[in-house]
Amino acid sequence: MEFNKSRTKTNLARAFTGECLDGARYQYVAKQATTDGFSYIADLFKNLAKNEMAHARVFYDHLIKNSKGGETNIDICAGYPFFNYELEGSIKESAGAELSESKNIYPAFAKVARDEGYADIADSFELVALVEECHFKQLSEIDEKYQNKILYSSNEEVKWKCSNCGHEHTSKNAWKNCPLCGYPQGYVMLQLQDN
Ligand SMILES: [Fe+2]
Ligand SMILES: [Fe+2]
Repeated sequence: MEFNKSRTKTNLARAFTGECLDGARYQYVAKQATTDGFSYIADLFKNLAKNEMAHARVFYDHLIKNSKGGETNIDICAGYPFFNYELEGSIKESAGAELSESKNIYPAFAKVARDEGYADIADSFELVALVEECHFKQLSEIDEKYQNKILYSSNEEVKWKCSNCGHEHTSKNAWKNCPLCGYPQGYVMLQLQDN
């Protein structure tokens, strides 16, 4: 299948656009988290944004490499999630978007790419889908703790760590202010399975 006539070309353009949108939105959420005093959550979102921009680059490079100077203006018809970046709601919405990318969108794009003879592009869609699945798990966990107000407390004694100075302490509840550097609770690293 000639690349410039393939569905894979359009799918790469769609995927690139979606990744850029996720990357931008995660930076907005990170900024909101900083404003709300959740500095460590802000760091997690900045890292997610970095991942999404790296995914965008992978798709962009496949597009450029395979287009070989073909049509450079690509029309795409696709729906993308646009939602508020307040923490209340946006963590959950983000998790949902990651789930749909990992379980529906990218597996479907991978299949089309494989059918059209682009095994390397199919591999990229599948590898990105695996990362989005990790993003989904991480975001779901953060959302659950955020909604239940248990970001900084646990049923058992756990090791809390300050993301600013590295101070560690084992207890059920994290400190209000770090005993070493004085930074507030929002800097405490979250207890996540997939950190
Ligand atoms: Fe991504
Ligand atoms: Fe993601």
